[in-house]
Amino acid sequence: MAEIIAVSDSALDKAAEILKSGGLVAIPTETVYGLAANACDGKAVARIFEVKGRPQFNPLISHFPSLEAMQDYVELDEPARTLAQHFWPGPLTLVLPRKENTPVSDLVCAGLPTMAVRVPAHGAAQDLLKRLDFPLAAPSANSSGRLSPTTPAHVAEDIGDKVDLILAAGPCGVGLESTVVDLSGDVPALLRPGAVTVEELSEVLELEITLETSSDKPKSPGMLLKHYAPQTPLRLNAVDLEPGEALLAFGSEKFMGIKGGGAAKNLPDELRRNLSENKDLHEAAANLFAMLKELDKSGAKSIAVMQIPENGLGAAINDRLKRAANA
Ligand code: TXA
Ligand code: MG
Repeated sequence: MAEIIAVSDSALDKAAEILKSGGLVAIPTETVYGLAANACDGKAVARIFEVKGRPQFNPLISHFPSLEAMQDYVELDEPARTLAQHFWPGPLTLVLPRKENTPVSDLVCAGLPTMAVRVPAHGAAQDLLKRLDFPLAAPSANSSGRLSPTTPAHVAEDIGDKVDLILAAGPCGVGLESTVVDLSGDVPALLRPGAVTVEELSEVLELEITLETSSDKPKSPGMLLKHYAPQTPLRLNAVDLEPGEALLAFGSEKFMGIKGGGAAKNLPDELRRNLSENKDLHEAAANLFAMLKELDKSGAKSIAVMQIPENGLGAAINDRLKRAANA
């Protein structure tokens, strides 16, 4: 069982050290407890998905101490600044275009060109974020299919043996997740109703916002999300390569041949990526979106993907590859 420590200066220092070295800390926010990791550390982010046991890579919210701290990460237009001014720090999440070359892991954004950001109002979350020079990726600190935790005890019962530390600060004030508004399109779209109401949003933006604003998208929450898909077709469970294909390997590619002659290991670098030579599923998850994007730019006619086991994070990796292959 993870240590449960009440918030204090030394507890916050300890949490910061764990996060800097790639660990997971359950943190209080004003909405619900979050399962936090360094958003710039792909392997740490992969552990979030593993602990939640969710067989899918959904994009995560990145938490910052202030609006200023996110300048290098996202494009902040006028509506974003207006909402930020009114509701931050607080329970509102904005989906914004992500800046090129942000240090944030591609796994946090599930390969999408957008990023969900928020400045939490909870004092302990603020004090922790100020100790760090990276944002914290944090979904609710519950395993998949369970309710979001609003007390340290909820976290401990559910995933207490899978995190490195639980920072305890009593029950969450709001007890309901943040409202998610997508500002990356032509009109603001409400992706998830939450603690900030549509009436409040509409009033501040001087624009009516409803769930129907996203009329071009399916309504059920799980389906609202656009998924990243490469332009280049994918061929899954490949055991050899067709001429003209790029290779996304997992484990050794030593014995993989190219039909008609040749070996995969001799392909030029731009046509070859290995998710993890030692078959480490954390490493593979952390590399997945970045490597798909690189191979997508290679000009190959398709991308042959070696088989990835279904256990642990493999299920989420395969889910994403199957979606990309059918796109
Ligand atoms: O109150 C909260 O928001 C809590 C606390 C810990 O901050 N966090 C939370 O995170 O609820 P999570 O991962 O459970 O929910 C994130 C929501 C999901 O509905 C996800 O689909 C959406 O934000 N989301 C994240 N990034 C997105 C993106 N780039 N585009 C669209 N939706 C995104
Ligand atoms: Mg959740």
